[in-house]
Amino acid sequence: MVTISGKARLAGVLGWPVSHSKSPLLHNFWFERHGLDGVYVPLPVAPTDLASVVRALPRMGFLGCNVTLPHKAAMLDLVDTVDPLAAAIGAVNTVLVGKSGELNGHNTDGLGFLAHLDASVPDWRASTQRVVLVGAGGAARALAFTFLANGINELALVNRTPERAATLVGRLSDSAGAAVSALPWAERHRALEGADLLVNTTSLGMVGQPALDLDLAPLPPAAVVADIVYTPLTTPLLAEAERRGHRTVDGLGMLLHQAVPGFTHWGGTRPVVDEATRRLMLAPPVAEPNTG
Ligand SMILES: NC(=O)c1ccc[n+]([C@@H]2O[C@H](COP(=O)([O-])OP(=O)(O)OC[C@H]3O[C@@H](n4cnc5c(N)ncnc54)[C@H](OP(=O)(O)O)[C@@H]3O)[C@@H](O)[C@H]2O)c1
Repeated sequence: MVTISGKARLAGVLGWPVSHSKSPLLHNFWFERHGLDGVYVPLPVAPTDLASVVRALPRMGFLGCNVTLPHKAAMLDLVDTVDPLAAAIGAVNTVLVGKSGELNGHNTDGLGFLAHLDASVPDWRASTQRVVLVGAGGAARALAFTFLANGINELALVNRTPERAATLVGRLSDSAGAAVSALPWAERHRALEGADLLVNTTSLGMVGQPALDLDLAPLPPAAVVADIVYTPLTTPLLAEAERRGHRTVDGLGMLLHQAVPGFTHWGGTRPVVDEATRRLMLAPPVAEPNTG
């Protein structure tokens, strides 16, 4: 049982709506696990109220917050500083309150993905030259800029809507030394030739969505296959990759690891992402009591 005193550390997640967010479950689990006097609350804030709420957070004693849809891009203009990675991605998902009450914006989505990859496939950095990203939405943007910032400089994007991939490639190409290309959706199977790492960043394969239609035959046998969809944990893409003998990486770890920098700031200690943390997030939600 978490004890919340009058001196409790405060943090939360800003979104609209925010009731679906699993962040309160995760951060309060870490507060409890580390025996800390702290609490993490959902902050349902409409876009029209966002600016005033964000400025009020330090004045109310908040140490920071996470940011979810639809506020990630708007937050760029509301914080006092934006770190270069978040600026390149064009979205803030974590706001840390500094010592003088200033708001510092970060984006930890891509870093969360890489931290999970490091934990799951420790040798991937040494063996990865070419990365193929399927998708060109917000998550792809975060991953692409984070890959480039971490020494990967051969990226191929395939996206259903070619204009979106072309726009992202245009922004990524400004990074010195990067070989970034976009391939037409019809060429997505062939794009896998020579790839060391394949990542699905689309919503395809998620519960209620069709599977990603991708023939893995052209993918070299040593390639790692990752999905950022985590419901189900084993997507049809990962099941097929496993069947073919590829090493696979699921999407849940990204969700957990992206939360680590924020908690390290407001909890004052670095939380560990382990099997108990994964089980917590996979547990079905507790049913509402029947009051009728
Ligand atoms: N594991 C994690 O921590 C984590 C973090 C962030 C997001 N996610 C998951 O990642 C997925 C994408 O999120 P996002 O924020 O990037 O969304 P987004 O900005 O809306 O982008 C969606 C992407 O999926 C593609 N897509 C959707 N339906 C498609 C279809 N029927 N056929 C082909 N492509 C299709 C879109 O292609 P078009 O451009 O052609 O529309 C676009 O590339 C979601 O499932 C989200 O839950 C997971």
